[in-house]
Amino acid sequence: MEIAVVGSLNHDLICVAARLPGKGETVHATSYCSAFGGKGANQAVAAARMGAHVRMIGAIGSDAVGAELRANLATNGIETDGLFLSGKPSGIAMITIDASGDNTIVVYPGANGELQPEWVLANAAAIEKSSCLVLQLEIPLLAVMAAVRIAKKAGIPILLNPAPAAALPVELIASCACITPNETKLALISGANGIEEGAARLLAMGARSVVVTLGSEGCHYMDHERSFRVAAFPIKAVDATAAGDSFNGALAVGMLSGRIDEELLRFANAAGALAASRLGAQPSIPTREEVQAFIISRG
Ligand code: RIB
Repeated sequence: MEIAVVGSLNHDLICVAARLPGKGETVHATSYCSAFGGKGANQAVAAARMGAHVRMIGAIGSDAVGAELRANLATNGIETDGLFLSGKPSGIAMITIDASGDNTIVVYPGANGELQPEWVLANAAAIEKSSCLVLQLEIPLLAVMAAVRIAKKAGIPILLNPAPAAALPVELIASCACITPNETKLALISGANGIEEGAARLLAMGARSVVVTLGSEGCHYMDHERSFRVAAFPIKAVDATAAGDSFNGALAVGMLSGRIDEELLRFANAAGALAASRLGAQPSIPTREEVQAFIISRG
């Protein structure tokens, strides 16, 4: 199981507070911690913890944080030859979590914003040797598109998690074996209201399948033949950060062994639920064994 991820790496600074501050307001945090994060690195770690061999293409600063981001991926068994050393500082995310586990995130892209299409092209082999390419939108769109063109030429299926939200070129949507927006991002990129209407529009643009993530409501799958909902696992939410990343990592690995069905989406929902029940991005991402045990425990 070989997966390539082209995406971001961040150092997350996390404050937990009773509630999120309003505009111009200061609230006191009840606790603070830092963790490895970034949507690309989180999904790479999620796929690795599901048993995949993962190669990461991204950018880090030539600073102490960058060295830690690289070492952390290596500790998770991920190949890091595709990391570009930028003159900008490594990416930072300032995250606030409230008592319900909801968050706000401000990202300083730093080195992530310096990832050039030329670097992706220079590391094309990492994509060509893989069986799936996983993408998000926390790096420049030109770098994303360079990865897409390499994968398409090599016949490698693409899983796109369109986060953070951005308007997308039709070429990108049309290249996806699967695209996984949440409801808000679906409305933005499809221009349609409603889950089935939005998903149908992405299919009409050329995506081969759509999974709309719905948080505590689970997810909705749609392709040209099937449309069904898969319920979430009820949990006590601690921190929503990286729940979507865990979901996408699990989905990517599952896609390698066949078509997306209810069982695979239930597994991905469980991976997301476990991440949401723990604090921090990468510290919260479960292993395959943890997900299997969780599903058994829920009958
Ligand atoms: O998806 C969660 C991630 O978004 C965090 O780890 C943070 O780094 C931001 O990129």
